[in-house]
Amino acid sequence: MLKRTSIIKQGTTQNEAQLQLEELSHVARLTIIGEIASDIAHEVNQPLAAISLFSQAGKRLLDSGQYERVAEVFDKLSQHAQRAGAIVERIQSMAKLHDTEKKSTDCYVLVTEVAQLAKAEASIHDIEIKVSVAKKLPSVVVDVVQVQQVILNLLRNSMQAMRKITRHNGNVVILRASLNSIGEVEIAVIDSGEGVSAKVEKKLFEPFLSAQESGMGLSLSRAIIQAHNGRINFHNNTICGATFYFTLPGAVRDD
Ligand SMILES: Nc1ncnc2c1ncn2[C@@H]1O[C@H](COP(=O)(O)OP(=O)(O)OP(=O)(O)O)[C@@H](O)[C@H]1O
Ligand SMILES: [Mg+2]
Repeated sequence: MLKRTSIIKQGTTQNEAQLQLEELSHVARLTIIGEIASDIAHEVNQPLAAISLFSQAGKRLLDSGQYERVAEVFDKLSQHAQRAGAIVERIQSMAKLHDTEKKSTDCYVLVTEVAQLAKAEASIHDIEIKVSVAKKLPSVVVDVVQVQQVILNLLRNSMQAMRKITRHNGNVVILRASLNSIGEVEIAVIDSGEGVSAKVEKKLFEPFLSAQESGMGLSLSRAIIQAHNGRINFHNNTICGATFYFTLPGAVRDD
């Protein structure tokens, strides 16, 4: 059983569970921030460069007496400043991180707790989360909150992908924990959503891929899994949807 505080406390109400869900989305981000620092620097530099260019353009307009176009330039300056601010804000929200704390953890508890949290969100969108845990899985040595955040990211991505299409192939997301051929615990999220396009695939684990929310879910997930000496990957399913999975090595048998 889990000894450390896990993301669901006993006897929580639906509202409390939702609050914990939101908290989890922001937790576990600081210790891995270093790994994506250069991407963040690149991302912040883009609006800064735009601000510099628009400032020069604004000055030229003033110099040449084209005052009617100056308001447009100020709008652009404001937009880019807000973009830079939003990036900084996201980084600050990651600063709520605690230090990594790895503990021997029961796989069943690890996945079922997250599924329980995500179920409320799933049911709103008429999606069912089915949990499948292989028998006699060994315990894994993990930071529970971080790994549960990864699972939650994957479940949310799957649900988002399923909401983007008219579903002809059911409304089930499978969360599966099993042992792979080389004895590692493998946790997979299998959906029947739109699948990953070739264009998105190229940049899949890079930060800021999408404009929605922070667009950092998978890059953070990868950093967390790498910090656990695991691997995270995906493949599109034969019929439809995608399977995202990660491994957790170093498992120890309880018996
Ligand atoms: N299961 C999936 N099926 C199809 N596309 C996916 C799936 N998971 C991820 N993607 C694609 O990868 C992109 C990046 O995912 P990622 O989790 O990194 O960011 P996000 O979900 O857009 O934002 P955030 O997780 O920060 O809220 C998604 O926007 C989506 O286009
Ligand atoms: Mg995501």
